[in-house]
Amino acid sequence: MKLINILAAAALTISVASAQDVMQKSMSIMEKGMTQIQQGFLNNNLALITEGTQLVKEGNKLFSDKKVIAEYLPKDKKHMINVAANASKRIELDVSVLELNLDDKAYINAANAYSDVLNACARCHSIVRNW
Ligand code: HEC
Repeated sequence: MKLINILAAAALTISVASAQDVMQKSMSIMEKGMTQIQQGFLNNNLALITEGTQLVKEGNKLFSDKKVIAEYLPKDKKHMINVAANASKRIELDVSVLELNLDDKAYINAANAYSDVLNACARCHSIVRNW
């Protein structure tokens, strides 16, 4: 194999591997964030809610680009890319709603925004997992 081919193959492997990492990294950050928010609501710990919200925001940013998301959709679900990408947009929106309500001490509304984030997680997972 020519050196150039070897290099190309290596580059491809690395880019595929790092694409994998982006999904896993994003999901584990969001999972941690959602757990913290839930603990925060259950224990009336505002700092935990705020911290968790930051994590969800951060993780969602990593997995919001249509091109990145499309790589993880099953072959027969590629046409669902807009629905999947909308789930990510919805998370972004819900997180701001959650923060605004938290600032206003409107905790029920903040908790509702948290539930809506959870729905958005499930919305995208239902596509990638054929639920
Ligand atoms: C735009 C699509 C999309 C959204 C939105 C989304 N996920 Fe995921 N998630 C995926 C994909 C793709 C996988 C990998 C396939 C699978 O596990 O079925 C995944 C897997 C996971 C996993 C398993 C991780 C692993 O390494 O296998 C966790 C945990 C997870 N997501 C948490 C979340 C949480 C929490 C949210 C919401 C805050 C969320 N996801 C929102 C697409 C999404």
